[in-house]
Amino acid sequence: MTTGAEPLKIKVGGKKRLFDIDDPKLPDWVEEHKLTAGGYPYDKKLKKDDYEATLEALQIELVKAQAWMQETGQRVIALFEGRDAAGKGGTIFALHQYMNPRTARTVALTKPTETERGQWYFQRYVAHLPTTGEFVSFDRSWYNRAGVEPVMGFCTPEQHRQFLEEAPRFEQMIRDEDIHLFKFWLDIGQETQLERFHDRRHSLLKNWKFSPIDIAGIDRWDDYTKARDLMIETTHSKAGPWTVVRANDKRRARLAVIRRVLLSLPYDGRDLAVIGEEDGKIIGEGSSLLM
Ligand code: ADP
Ligand code: AMP
Ligand code: MLT
Repeated sequence: MTTGAEPLKIKVGGKKRLFDIDDPKLPDWVEEHKLTAGGYPYDKKLKKDDYEATLEALQIELVKAQAWMQETGQRVIALFEGRDAAGKGGTIFALHQYMNPRTARTVALTKPTETERGQWYFQRYVAHLPTTGEFVSFDRSWYNRAGVEPVMGFCTPEQHRQFLEEAPRFEQMIRDEDIHLFKFWLDIGQETQLERFHDRRHSLLKNWKFSPIDIAGIDRWDDYTKARDLMIETTHSKAGPWTVVRANDKRRARLAVIRRVLLSLPYDGRDLAVIGEEDGKIIGEGSSLLM
């Protein structure tokens, strides 16, 4: 498969670059910065052994948390946002890997149908909110209307503005229902995104993830940055706070997300020594860590 895309002239790290997604060789300037892009605070990925051991320990805690949710009827929403290729899908995979799928679901909606386009914007999401004891992760969410939709022209500026005003009220209602709401923004640097697009383009296993939206987004980096900043500024609230996770290293990001979930749910038998401390260079509130 070839994308048929012309090499793109883009600005990366203040330099003009030519990026040809169809060329199997990843440019050196991408390779060199794929981890450190955007001022990422580590220059090496977390070691695989450390990652796997820590992940397993945290997943055992998640099993306990799920049992507690069953006993007490608690409901949880974890929504995941971020640029294309930020690692939303993989993070959700790690979070759900050992959860009972009967009471833990992932919601990844397609673009709205004609019928859905005629409904109240939040309506199709409401249908997927959790029932008693359920853990529901959203791989993208109502926040499409604060990111991909305004950037790609799928909604009007007025719909965008209205959404930013309504989202906090919608989330206040969720919070008033005593549903736990996590809002994770996975933040990546520009070279990190390019490396992952390139990988998707040339990998037979990951090619399904590569969409025309991704290609169109390559030279809209700055538009997405503006949309992100406005979204966080206007929708970071007490009822629905944003948690930003620096995600150039997928391993550190996944652990940080799971740790945050565990630290926020007061389940029986919670072992704080196993969960460990949060890394303030990787996870933070609101706009504090944005690259
Ligand atoms: P992925 O979530 O796998 O990155 P895409 O990059 O193809 O999927 O699309 C990004 C998001 O944009 C998806 O949530 C998709 O539903 C949404 N989207 C795509 N086309 C439209 C459209 N015409 N109107 C509204 N949303 C759209
Ligand atoms: P508060 O009364 O808002 O300080 O919240 C009390 C506890 O409820 C906190 O310690 C949180 O663990 C939990 N909590 C509050 N808001 C939320 C939310 N939006 N999502 C999940 N848990 C929350
Ligand atoms: C991700 O990897 O961030 C998503 O799951 C897929 C995408 O948005 O490209």
